[in-house]
Amino acid sequence: MKYEIAVIPGDGIGPEIVKEACGVLDRVGEVFGHSFHYTEVLMGGASIDVHGVPLTDEALETARRSDSVLLGAVGGNVGNSRWYDAAPHLRPEAGLLAIRKGLGLFANIRPAYLYRELSSACPLKESIIGDGFDMVILRELTGGLYFGERYTKEVDGALTAVDTLTYSEHEIRRIAVKAFEIAMKRKKHVTSVDKANVLDSSRLWRKVVEEVAAGYPEVTLAHMLVDNCAMQLVMNPGQFDVILTENMFGDILSDEASMITGSIGMLSSASLNEGKFGLYEPSHGSAPDIAGKDLANPIATILSAAMMLRYSFDLDREAAAVEEAVQKVLSEGYRTPDIMAEGGIQVGTAQMGRLICERI
Ligand code: IPM
Ligand code: MG
Repeated sequence: MKYEIAVIPGDGIGPEIVKEACGVLDRVGEVFGHSFHYTEVLMGGASIDVHGVPLTDEALETARRSDSVLLGAVGGNVGNSRWYDAAPHLRPEAGLLAIRKGLGLFANIRPAYLYRELSSACPLKESIIGDGFDMVILRELTGGLYFGERYTKEVDGALTAVDTLTYSEHEIRRIAVKAFEIAMKRKKHVTSVDKANVLDSSRLWRKVVEEVAAGYPEVTLAHMLVDNCAMQLVMNPGQFDVILTENMFGDILSDEASMITGSIGMLSSASLNEGKFGLYEPSHGSAPDIAGKDLANPIATILSAAMMLRYSFDLDREAAAVEEAVQKVLSEGYRTPDIMAEGGIQVGTAQMGRLICERI
């Protein structure tokens, strides 16, 4: 089969890690007889430099017309980059929010899995790690505080900023359904995370999640308050299978979950619409401090490409081949600097990409 992929290298380490992920896809193409065709799209700082805006209508259209989107990372050092003097809607991150909203990518899937080989990089005690952990965070991605009305104005002589947290039943239901569908293919346990002791949006969240749960009698459902969840992640991460939560809680908890796996450089993510279309990107940022130095870990982006094969193209065997190649490279001791430990063989971005290709 032939697949059209819109590729957004973005900023910082984006271009180098995306290059390795495309190399891996090409290798998959060779071995399994598919062809992947890439169209480069500008977004973030890279687009601001050329067009003055973080995402043009044409770029969004190119992404929409493709079969799926592969993204590196966008943004520079906040507070120390030429891109941050502009109004918020003209900063690099606004491009990311616009493409998520514009393509209807409401379901963000962020797996957090502890590789045995990397357990020495896990900041948790052995007694807490136990048999390891393997969870998926399902983050609602196009609602809540990120997309509510927002403004800053003077009220009674004081500058006052307002952000609005809104969720409709419809928005909650569709992400809850995705969470239960994913749980059905895993350990059949959903933890829905909210702040129902304070927020109206959370009380509605609970009600709708319970309605959805009624349709999945095999899946157990637990509700957890977000502050407690932040604690549980470092106290007993093994209890989680699928964590279902709203946009901002998911942003924060997914960084926490990624850190306990040892390195954020390992974690992939997928953002899906109602159907098969998705945008695939590493969970980490653009790491401008190490950009262009061949130091970045390309594994999160390569695993995101594997998620693309599985979720958008239904190529399960091909996705597994990529995941197994990553596992092999780690077992053989190869490490980028972020996951380097005693006894490891340190390699750069490009070599890590090559090693993975050779094992497919
Ligand atoms: C993420 C990032 C983005 C978010 C930023 C860059 C807007 O932190 O994808 O988690 O908060 O969604
Ligand atoms: Mg984040």
